[in-house]
Amino acid sequence: METVVSGIRSTGKLHLGNYYGALSNFVKMQDEYNCFFFIADLHSLTTHPNPQDLQSTVRNVVIEYLAAGIDPEKSTIYVQSDVPEVAELYLYMNMNAYLGELERSTSFKDKVRSSPDNVNAGLLTYPVLMACDILLHHGTKVPVGKDQEQHLEMTRTFGNRFNHLYKVDYFKEAFAFSYSNKLVKVPGLSGQGKMGKSNGDADCIYLSDTPEVIRKKIMRAVSDSGPTTPNQEKPESVQNLFDLMKVVSTDDTLAHFDDLYNKCEIRYGDFKKQLAEDMVIATEPVRSRIEEISNDEDYIQKVLRMGAEKASASAQKTLREVREIIGIKKLF
Ligand code: TYM
Repeated sequence: METVVSGIRSTGKLHLGNYYGALSNFVKMQDEYNCFFFIADLHSLTTHPNPQDLQSTVRNVVIEYLAAGIDPEKSTIYVQSDVPEVAELYLYMNMNAYLGELERSTSFKDKVRSSPDNVNAGLLTYPVLMACDILLHHGTKVPVGKDQEQHLEMTRTFGNRFNHLYKVDYFKEAFAFSYSNKLVKVPGLSGQGKMGKSNGDADCIYLSDTPEVIRKKIMRAVSDSGPTTPNQEKPESVQNLFDLMKVVSTDDTLAHFDDLYNKCEIRYGDFKKQLAEDMVIATEPVRSRIEEISNDEDYIQKVLRMGAEKASASAQKTLREVREIIGIKKLF
């Protein structure tokens, strides 16, 4: 059976981008594959969260994993830092990752642009740690959104380089995965590209947002006036809303509003109302379970203990083998 590995950083509440790019696939994959889903708390340290926030965001992601339907009996759910073997593997793999390729990573270049005061080494080697998360369990399928494609390419590069350097056929190649053949990019509400927390709360619909909040955010989303001529190309902000509708609404609803747009008869108020209602319905099953699970502390603890145990067993085996390959052996 193929192994699936993926994670989400503990930076706060999960949004529709996390859900449709990653989490919804996690839930489907657990019936078909040997799955490891973790909370990437070590990756989130690049932005220096305070310790209390880090603890509560880790807990939050666990709760939302469970609320979305990840079943701890089928999948291994764990916190990245509970399996410190990943840090050891990261050290070894850093020896085979080169400055030039790390600097060329799009996510690194974005961070240099957006936070020039915090270009730390952890950001530079973020893709190495991500590769280690996957290689640690010999993952071959990695459910992620479109923005992670380059990191998967780098994972293959690092794994292959290790194999080549030590003349072994040890690490397998891992590929980004989505059930909808194309990797997903969920746009945000601010009209500026993909949904993301770094664009502010108004850009994101969170899985925990109440129906009222969802309606308010959608009604305030950037749209446009027009169109003024039939079949006019949609401006980015409008296209984004249509893309969101594609994610949460039926094909018929989407076709209906597309038709109105092409005939210059669209009323954005109606369009947004429909989008908001479909979003409320799409998120309801997860939203309704979040509160219930967050009140069951014993269950959360049990899930994480069980997950840490299973993930550690897999990681320890890998590290024993990697040390052997590298030549780090006990001489006494
Ligand atoms: P993070 O927390 O930034 O994102 C978690 C997942 O959500 C997806 N995602 C989106 N997908 C579509 N549209 C969006 N607007 C959107 N926003 C976020 C991301 O593609 C991702 O799948 N580096 C990873 C965390 C990680 C990881 C790993 C993933 C660490 N190690 C090993 C897989 C395997 C990340 O992007 O986290």
